Amino acid sequence: MAKTKTSYVCQACGAVSPRWVGRCEACGEWNTIVEEIVDSGVGAGPKSATAGGRPTQLVPLAGETESAARVVSGMAELDRVTGGGFVKGSAVLMAGDPGIGKSTLLLQAVAAMADLGKRVIYVTGEEAVGQVRLRAQRLGLGDRDVSLASETNVEIILATLQQGPAPDLVIIDSIQTLWTDRVDSAPGTVTQVRTSAQALTRFAKKSGAAVVLVGHVTKDGQIAGPRVVEHMVDAVLYFEGDASHTFRILRGVKNRYGATDEIGVFEMTTLGLKEVSNPSAMFLDQRDKDAAGSAVFAGMEGTRPVLCEIQALVAPSPLGTPRRAVVGWDSSRLSMVLAVLETRCGVRIGANDIYLNVAGGLKINEPAADLAVAAALISSLTGAPLPPDAVYFGEISLAGGVRPVVHASLRLREAQKLGFRSAVTGRLGAGDKSNGLEVSEYTDLATLIGQIAAKGKPRKAAE
Ligand code: TYD
Ligand code: MG
Repeated sequence: MAKTKTSYVCQACGAVSPRWVGRCEACGEWNTIVEEIVDSGVGAGPKSATAGGRPTQLVPLAGETESAARVVSGMAELDRVTGGGFVKGSAVLMAGDPGIGKSTLLLQAVAAMADLGKRVIYVTGEEAVGQVRLRAQRLGLGDRDVSLASETNVEIILATLQQGPAPDLVIIDSIQTLWTDRVDSAPGTVTQVRTSAQALTRFAKKSGAAVVLVGHVTKDGQIAGPRVVEHMVDAVLYFEGDASHTFRILRGVKNRYGATDEIGVFEMTTLGLKEVSNPSAMFLDQRDKDAAGSAVFAGMEGTRPVLCEIQALVAPSPLGTPRRAVVGWDSSRLSMVLAVLETRCGVRIGANDIYLNVAGGLKINEPAADLAVAAALISSLTGAPLPPDAVYFGEISLAGGVRPVVHASLRLREAQKLGFRSAVTGRLGAGDKSNGLEVSEYTDLATLIGQIAAKGKPRKAAE
């Protein structure tokens, strides 16, 4: 009989502790430790791989290689994020909130690959075959040459995959529903997820198929798994978006075979996900051009320029401690911009309630947005709308200077394409082209703020 033992595993980070504790000592999360029964070989490979001490072959680093063969989907937004298709023999984690559209995206992707003559297998552990068929029919993909299976046991799935010619791509939807005979814990626990993911990753390497594991992550990290799987797989893609908006962003956060800073933009429609090849136009769609407090930021997502609207509302606060609410940007970055405005530019803004919103639900994490945020804040404070045909980008330093940012030419070209006429930024580099825009270069934030404020009626800030 296999020797069993009990261990206490944190469902958030996968750390193992010898006894139950209320708070995980590794990641500090409360109530995440769960008792798991494991046999003595947790996480170990198959016996034959370790037994016998058989030596492996050493090879020189310099040698012949073939460039990684890829399974292309033909969906430009997806292929862009994977770096030109899923690499054969690699394992990819596609993570995202439940209901965001992972299954829909992957079903559309396998259908597109089947059209290109690839052998694709879609294994679902969440839905019945009938449900997947219905969805495919609704998406107009009902007749595609995709093999389906509804199964949750890893050993059965592997046996199925090993039948017949090796597939080009396998989708496992989702890793949390899988369970393996090798461990006794419940499906969805860290040990099950890790062991199942290991077995499937090994299958990918051996068979040369690309394996995509779907993983649900919730905001509060309550569902176990994907975090521990991230280390095992070759690429991690996040599918994001929020329920109140129809657009979805596919973002690469780890990629052993390509860049990680690319995004793919999709829109969820009644007929599935539609690729959005011009995201800037979509994000600027409903902009109120004459409102004070609105600035257009010329941002970059990977190698791709994306324009979006930053909205600020500065309102006198009735409270002793004024409110700060930020959606789509880093709130500590907002505090920094406010502190620079107060101390370096002499703007009395800190006593107001301040709301900042990136329109459309986009999340920005570039410091280049500083200048657009500062412009939107001053515009709202003074009631002076910014010129509707201007874009803003630049990083603000703690000393009150405006720093140049990378890819200025690309940002300017995108702005020009969308009909903007002027840009406000830091000093352009020697190689940067204005691309037909009238570019105002500032090295000092106070000068710019003075010019915006001069156009509005300075409102008395709350004392
Ligand atoms: P789904 O792909 O099942 O999400 P996940 O696999 O990430 O959990 O997508 C579910 C949501 O997508 C569901 O709320 C309905 C919506 N949806 C559409 O709006 N249009 C469509 O054509 C489809 C298939 C789904
Ligand atoms: Mg799903």
